[in-house]
Amino acid sequence: MPLDNQIQPKILLLNGPNLNLLGEREPHIYGAASLKTIADRLTQTAATYNIVLMNFQSNSEGALIDRIHQARNEHIEWILFNPGAYTHTSIALRDAIQGARIPMIEIHISKVFQREAFRHHSYFADIAWARLVGMGMLGYDYALAAAIAAIKN
Ligand code: DQA
Repeated sequence: MPLDNQIQPKILLLNGPNLNLLGEREPHIYGAASLKTIADRLTQTAATYNIVLMNFQSNSEGALIDRIHQARNEHIEWILFNPGAYTHTSIALRDAIQGARIPMIEIHISKVFQREAFRHHSYFADIAWARLVGMGMLGYDYALAAAIAAIKN
């Protein structure tokens, strides 16, 4: 019987622009699984550890910032974040993550360092607790495993 939501640890899975198109968008780069498939799998994995996984995707920078601010009031312990193209552009999202003071694991499905030069820079690289780059969809699972281990240990 799961404990009450109030006292279950919470992790926020956060995805930025165009990641709603996972499974359809450039599958040779981003794979065939949809975001729902990934989020459902992570939700199930988290639940087996009695952890609540919250899932949010937006194409809008402001909505992502608002979601991070909200996380501060929800006692979210970890954020698993694929900022999409905002990785390379968004000081505002960087400031939101830094301001929230919630540890964040940065995820990139593709091998960004083997792609265009503009993808090599991340505004999150130096503030992320860890980064999973180029491991495909499994990057999300590994990020979750790291957050669970940190919560449980
Ligand atoms: C991405 C890499 C970004 O450069 C790109 O804009 C994305 C996805 C990745 O998961 O590999 O939208 O973050």
